[in-house]
Amino acid sequence: MHSFGHRANALLTFALTILALMCAMASFSDNFNSPSPTADVQVLNINWFQKQPNGNDEVSLTFNISADLQSLFTWNTKQVFVFLAAEYETPKNSMNQVSLWDGIIPSKEHAKFWIHTTNKYRFTDQGSNLRGKEFNLSLHWHVMPKTGKMFADKIVMSGFRLPEEYR
Ligand SMILES: *[C@@H]1O[C@H](CO)[C@@H](O)[C@H](O)[C@H]1NC(C)=O
Ligand SMILES: *[C@@H]1O[C@H](CO)[C@@H](O)[C@H](O)[C@H]1NC(C)=O
Repeated sequence: MHSFGHRANALLTFALTILALMCAMASFSDNFNSPSPTADVQVLNINWFQKQPNGNDEVSLTFNISADLQSLFTWNTKQVFVFLAAEYETPKNSMNQVSLWDGIIPSKEHAKFWIHTTNKYRFTDQGSNLRGKEFNLSLHWHVMPKTGKMFADKIVMSGFRLPEEYR
């Protein structure tokens, strides 16, 4: 009896040691996972471009957003929040950022996608700065882990330009 209890205890200790080792290896591997996400955004159409009665420029765009964010997912990823932002300079601010679209990716299976959409949030400027304006489109992501720290990064696509005239 004594010897059986002793052996069971030794086995349990061994199992717990292996488990602890596996956990350590898993979180270690998470640190060294270097993700390589890709993204591309095409502006398919400028639906309209106007000065609003309050004097602010506003534009409506249709895009095709395509991305492969599968490499952001590890055993420790709960979900990934993504948003597309237009970024441009004006005389007043060196960086204006307007969020145009966002989404939550619940799993790796959903992390490779393309979406044909108009801007979900208004693309408007505090003034009439948008005519002929060059802008960047950045796809930002926030990776929400099951345990540990959140991390964020982005892919910047540059070289977009709004028309010189309202339409
Ligand atoms: C959007 O882009 C993806 C990837 O480039 C492409 O496969 C898809 O056909 C495009 N969809 C539209 C509506 O342009
Ligand atoms: C747009 O992208 C270019 C190239 O990456 C960068 O030099 C420029 O500062 C960006 N503009 C803004 C407003 O972020």
